[in-house]
Amino acid sequence: MPLRRREFMQRAAVAAAVLGLPLARAERLFAQDAPPLPPRDLYSTDPDRYWAELRRQWLLAADRINLNCGSVGCTPQAVLRAMIDHLLSAEEFREAPYPWFGYEENTRLRELRDALAAFLRVKRDELAIVRNATEANNAVCNGLDLKSGDEALLGIALNYVPLPKPPATKEQIVELFARAITPRTRIMVFSHITTVTGLILPVKEICALGRSRGILTHVDGAHAIGQIPLDLRDLGCDFYTTSPHKWLMSPKGTGTLYIREELLERLWVNIASGEWRNYAMKAYRFSNLGTSNLSVMVGLKAALDFFQAIGPERIYGRIHQLATRVRDRVAAHPQLRVVNASKGEFFGGLVSFEPATPIPPGSTTGGLQRVAEECAARNIRIAGGAERIRIATHIFTQPTELEAFFDALDAGLR
Ligand SMILES: Cc1ncc(COP(=O)(O)O)c(C=O)c1O
Repeated sequence: MPLRRREFMQRAAVAAAVLGLPLARAERLFAQDAPPLPPRDLYSTDPDRYWAELRRQWLLAADRINLNCGSVGCTPQAVLRAMIDHLLSAEEFREAPYPWFGYEENTRLRELRDALAAFLRVKRDELAIVRNATEANNAVCNGLDLKSGDEALLGIALNYVPLPKPPATKEQIVELFARAITPRTRIMVFSHITTVTGLILPVKEICALGRSRGILTHVDGAHAIGQIPLDLRDLGCDFYTTSPHKWLMSPKGTGTLYIREELLERLWVNIASGEWRNYAMKAYRFSNLGTSNLSVMVGLKAALDFFQAIGPERIYGRIHQLATRVRDRVAAHPQLRVVNASKGEFFGGLVSFEPATPIPPGSTTGGLQRVAEECAARNIRIAGGAERIRIATHIFTQPTELEAFFDALDAGLR
């Protein structure tokens, strides 16, 4: 068998094992090059066809609809290939540097950090690669020295603080933060895009508020990377965390932690390795997590490349265009109330809605339960249930899939 063919077959075998695909399907998909991207000018002449053709990039089955990429996104084939190819080559131990992630920074990690730092508009030395936003959040929460009596202002998710649903203005939200600050507040910890409803918080304004009062800001941007444009320096936050496996479509198990340069030595590591106080490593000190999977990080670099090849602005625009379609359809139902997307600035690709007549928190019957059941019957993945439903749209989402959801919505409300 020619070498290239043998390599392709190996990749197909690993894909079958890692992704749980039947071998025949893995061979069909992976024993050849990735499907090419649609021609760029197709986007200008026939955008609908461009997006329809692009769908070939994902393994997402034709009879499954994922409107919950807020939990985890769909990873394109080119990214899966990069990850699997690395898995195979690393096992040959031909690469001179340490072929795994979790200790010293090798060339691949350096390239990834440079690409991510440029994407997030920060310095490489302020950026650590970790395994998800949870790990990054813990690095900050457990790593900051607070004295007895110091307060952290936590939130703000709609289920904890009675924010207006939906809010009318950004100022309304900032005012809620301002009122919650006490003389003991040392740090404000909040999501850029809230988990429960997908509301985009006015991060820049809240960080400016924090700065004016000498309060640190820790922003959980798990959902933001890949869903909306990000410029961390412009946002003015002190700590920022992300999970690229949601909207940036990277392999699962990738995260980033941004630490403002001046604060790099303020945080203790809470996973200690030999380098725990090697401050010369700057933010990379927080990537010394012990042996971890470099192949998913190679996949993260490939995801960033894929994202750039399509074009970030084009992606954000499509995500929001489809979400607006969902918002408008939901808003037209007198039985429903949109809880985040009152204005364009409050939502990216997530739209949440509740019954117009609210039901008690935690209910599993009544409300939107029948809508959730209609979605399940049609293999449509959504987030939420009786009390509230959250719909996510991405570039792999097809208009016909939204129509299927709208049918489920109508059926569940009848
Ligand atoms: C705001 C927010 N932070 C953190 C997480 C946790 O993400 P991960 O499981 O990737 O660590 C989520 C998951 O949905 C989230 O919505």
